[in-house]
Amino acid sequence: MIVPTSTMLTAASKAAFAVPAVNILDNLSLRAVVAAAEETEAPVIIQVSVKTVRSFGVRLVTEMFREVATSSPAPLSLHLDHCPDVELIREVVDAGWQSVLFDASDRDLNQAEEETAQVVAYAHAAGVDVESEIENIIGVEDGVGSDEAIHSYGVGTLVEVANRTNADFIAPQLGTAHGSYKSKPQLLPDRVREFLKLTDRPIVLHGGTGLSPQDFSEFIHAGVSKINVSTALKESYMRSAKAHLDVASAKNEWEPTRLFADVLSGVRQEIVGFIHMFSAAGKADLVAEAVK
Ligand code: 13P
Repeated sequence: MIVPTSTMLTAASKAAFAVPAVNILDNLSLRAVVAAAEETEAPVIIQVSVKTVRSFGVRLVTEMFREVATSSPAPLSLHLDHCPDVELIREVVDAGWQSVLFDASDRDLNQAEEETAQVVAYAHAAGVDVESEIENIIGVEDGVGSDEAIHSYGVGTLVEVANRTNADFIAPQLGTAHGSYKSKPQLLPDRVREFLKLTDRPIVLHGGTGLSPQDFSEFIHAGVSKINVSTALKESYMRSAKAHLDVASAKNEWEPTRLFADVLSGVRQEIVGFIHMFSAAGKADLVAEAVK
């Protein structure tokens, strides 16, 4: 079932869990993530990078998602990840996606605020939610972003900007980074608490790959409502494919549909693990109730 992203995040902030937002790469990984959501009765956000959208085209991604989501009992939404390009945002808003991340973190503050306000007005007119990134989350995600903190602001400033732009969700720096960690990150769950003292707009945690169950639990306790995972899906996809191909090669048996089945199973298991760590298992009913 397709539900608004904001409905899921509101349910998550009331019931102390986080909705997994998982970057898919194709139809196979989409079906694996949806299978994980169904198996665990969890709400899940299907997230797509700009690179993936550009490789398939907006129409095909939209159709793939609709086909799978409308026939699934799991609450699902389709979300565009890190997009600095206003034209592409308009395209997915027009196509009826549930939410977008307008990534204005490469602009100075005034420019970021002005463009975010315009994006929010356009998206809200179509009933689409907007996640806002004003200070940059470290790391490069599918070609978007930087390894350095180029823009950082105070919590109060970020909340004021969100109030003026009317962005639905805030994606701030919380000590995490995209990709695998080369050294132990300095995590900032207390910063989540500072935000939530000033706003009830849901807070989003990026860079989910490589954090421990304890790290997730602290962030969820502090109040994050959406946690993004991308690299872990890519790695489980490729490792499952490699394991299959090693066996196929040893046996000299080459059947693509068996490769697809093994990749689907590996990715599904990986995402089931995250759903449990985010306390999202069994929360589908809460979200379904909220949309009635
Ligand atoms: P990881 O690739 O570190 O899981 O981060 C994903 C993310 O934050 C997508 O926006």
